Amino acid sequence: MIYNNFVCGLFCDLHVYYFSSSNWLFILVRVLLLSSNGFLGQVPSSLRNLTKLTQLQLAHNKLTGDLTSLLQNRTSLVALDVSSNEFYGTIPSFLFTMPSLSFLDLSENHLSGSLQIPFSLPNLRVLKLSYLNITHQLDLRVFSSLKSLTYLDLSGISLTPTSVDSDINFAKSLRVLLLSECNLSKFPRFVKSLTNLEFLYLSDNRIKGNIPLSTCNRTFLDVLDLSYNNFTGSIPPCLGNINIVNLRKNKLEGNIPDEFHINASTQTLDVGYNQLTGKLPRSLLNCTLLKFVSVDHNAINDSFPFWLKALPNLKVLTLRSNRFHGPISQPYGPLAFPKLQILEISHNRFTGSLPRNYFKNWTNPSLKPDDEEKMYMGDYSSDRFGYEDTLDLQYKGLYMEQGKVLTFYSAIDFSGNKLEGEIPESIGLLKALIALNLSNNSFTGRIPMSFANVSELESLDLSENKLSGEIPQELRRLTYLAYIDVSDNQLTGEIPQGTQITGQPKSSFEGNLGLCGLPLEERCFTEKTTSIEEVEEEEEGVLKWRAVAIGYAPGVLFGLAIGHVVALYRPEWFIKSYVGSL
Ligand SMILES: *[C@@H]1O[C@H](CO)[C@@H](O)[C@H](O)[C@H]1NC(C)=O
Ligand SMILES: *[C@@H]1O[C@H](CO)[C@@H](O)[C@H](O)[C@H]1NC(C)=O
Ligand SMILES: *[C@@H]1O[C@H](CO)[C@@H](O)[C@H](O)[C@H]1NC(C)=O
Ligand SMILES: *[C@@H]1O[C@H](CO)[C@@H](O)[C@H](O)[C@H]1NC(C)=O
Ligand SMILES: *[C@@H]1O[C@H](CO)[C@@H](O)[C@H](O)[C@H]1NC(C)=O
Ligand SMILES: *[C@@H]1O[C@H](CO)[C@@H](O)[C@H](O)[C@H]1NC(C)=O
Ligand SMILES: *[C@@H]1O[C@H](CO)[C@@H](O)[C@H](O)[C@H]1NC(C)=O
Ligand SMILES: *[C@@H]1O[C@H](CO)[C@@H](O)[C@H](O)[C@H]1NC(C)=O
Ligand SMILES: *[C@@H]1O[C@H](CO)[C@@H](O)[C@H](O)[C@H]1NC(C)=O
Ligand SMILES: *[C@@H]1O[C@H](CO)[C@@H](O)[C@H](O)[C@H]1NC(C)=O
Ligand SMILES: *[C@@H]1O[C@H](CO)[C@@H](O)[C@H](O)[C@H]1NC(C)=O
Ligand SMILES: *[C@@H]1O[C@H](CO)[C@@H](O)[C@H](O)[C@H]1NC(C)=O
Repeated sequence: MIYNNFVCGLFCDLHVYYFSSSNWLFILVRVLLLSSNGFLGQVPSSLRNLTKLTQLQLAHNKLTGDLTSLLQNRTSLVALDVSSNEFYGTIPSFLFTMPSLSFLDLSENHLSGSLQIPFSLPNLRVLKLSYLNITHQLDLRVFSSLKSLTYLDLSGISLTPTSVDSDINFAKSLRVLLLSECNLSKFPRFVKSLTNLEFLYLSDNRIKGNIPLSTCNRTFLDVLDLSYNNFTGSIPPCLGNINIVNLRKNKLEGNIPDEFHINASTQTLDVGYNQLTGKLPRSLLNCTLLKFVSVDHNAINDSFPFWLKALPNLKVLTLRSNRFHGPISQPYGPLAFPKLQILEISHNRFTGSLPRNYFKNWTNPSLKPDDEEKMYMGDYSSDRFGYEDTLDLQYKGLYMEQGKVLTFYSAIDFSGNKLEGEIPESIGLLKALIALNLSNNSFTGRIPMSFANVSELESLDLSENKLSGEIPQELRRLTYLAYIDVSDNQLTGEIPQGTQITGQPKSSFEGNLGLCGLPLEERCFTEKTTSIEEVEEEEEGVLKWRAVAIGYAPGVLFGLAIGHVVALYRPEWFIKSYVGSL
């Protein structure tokens, strides 16, 4: 078997060694890379004979047993990564006195122990101890002796309040600090003195009080994530200095400061679930790198931000549950956001109708990773770390794999507004649309036949509108459709039969004027004989629309759409090994 180079992280640019699972003979090996191989059980005792190892990486397997015998006397070890395994027992204390060690990742194991020992690791740069089985509170001050530290991850370990509140003299070299789920109730005092910090992650704590303004008033910070805390007060005016800002689920109030300066580097701005008021700051236009804007669940009172279309990279815009109002279309014009993929504007007070060509100028992500070859949403991987934006997408029927946030689909939610008029036929151009929710508006007219072209559609909710006519039989072509709801409209005629549509619950079709056929109990008495002519006519209708569309936007029709999507409920972090630090 050959080493599977899937998650090699730190060791990617080093040699890859062959090994045979039946024949553990590699006494001279100095670098052993066995991550992500699905290994189970105890590490073979013969591994202990590899006394000369300088780098050992066993991450992301299901290895178990005690680390002490495996690691004893490995004084030449420079890098050790056993993360994401099932190792148990006490963390061997000799690990913390190995002078050569530069990289140590024990995270996500069942290891226990006190860690209240004096560290003697003068060369340690990266230390990851997150999500271990350490039940007592940890005093942060023990880490101040690590004078070469650049990266510290203690997520999931409770820290003593006194150490969080003291002026710890951490290494000035510290650039990445992750203290998520550390039971913090105060903003760590020492953070202010970490002048080289680039990445601060304090989400899922219980921190109360104002945001410490000085945090974003520093030029090096790339990532500030204070989400899922209890921060109060107003948002500091210097967010434009930070690439990624996540303040989701706090109790911030006031306006989003209109202070994004001409050189603002912001790529992600998530201030969802706060108590913000006022308007969206127009100075966001200065953030030409902005990809992701989420201001959902606040009390922002503004009209639809058409002006954001000047941002060349905007992919995600969520305005859900605010006090936005007025039309979402400019007279006769398409919504021409150059790269938009996710548009969530539900539960606002938007009004007006949408022109037929409304979706015409949405660009084409094509059904593959985006132009930067990123698979996942907002993947800002750099040499040192990665960050992925996540989003609460709330579509029934949509398959969302935990932790995997694909970049090449799109989703639209206009539900809970007062939109009227017909559903724009140009919806059929959105080849990569996987979810559409137009529920609870006042849309009238027929369900456009062009829906049949939205071939990736998995979730479609048109309920609670005033749609009339028949459900187009062409919807049978939507093979991925897992959820459809057209209840509470004025639809008539036969429900498209013999597809997964008939497998939907009855409630998805109830509350209409005269629908019949499965899954409803009403039989269609005038058995509809769809003549070949009729089908052809309908097909032709679709084709005609295509022809019109091609007329509008030559060359982009097939594959036209948006890219990007999907997400899970909580922020998810993808921290990559910092190769450069070793
Ligand atoms: C490991 O070393 C011991 C002696 O230290 C030896 O008895 C044993 O055979 C070695 N195992 C392998 C697989 O080489
Ligand atoms: C570690 O080295 C000491 C002597 O230096 C030896 O007594 C002990 O057996 C060694 N432990 C292992 C697991 O090889
Ligand atoms: C965690 O450590 C405690 C002892 O401190 C032990 O009783 C418990 O079984 C450990 N849990 C796991 C999941 O290993
Ligand atoms: C979290 O902190 C509170 C007080 O700050 C303390 O009472 C509680 O025991 C801590 N929880 C854990 C798991 O350490
Ligand atoms: C925030 O504070 C409220 C009380 O004001 C409390 O109920 C809630 O649990 C706190 N949330 C967190 C994440 O600490
Ligand atoms: C940062 O804040 C300090 C006061 O706390 C101020 O003197 C300094 O000018 C600020 N720096 C920037 C770049 O805004
Ligand atoms: C923007 O950057 C340029 C060059 O880096 C600098 O000269 C200018 O002062 C900056 N402007 C602001 C408002 O920060
Ligand atoms: C962009 O930033 C400059 C200052 O750097 C500011 O004068 C200008 O008003 C900002 N643009 C917008 C649209 O607010
Ligand atoms: C929104 O702001 C306008 C003034 O700009 C005000 O008249 C209106 O009442 C506000 N609406 C809400 C829902 O707060
Ligand atoms: C829509 O796209 C076409 C070309 O594809 C372009 O000519 C037109 O200006 C765009 N409309 C808007 C409003 O951006
Ligand atoms: C559509 O949005 C409404 C809320 O506006 C929600 O209740 C419904 O579940 C959504 N439909 C789907 C399919 O997710
Ligand atoms: C429909 O939207 C209105 C606001 O337009 C809201 O008040 C109402 O609760 C929504 N109904 C449902 C069932 O979500």
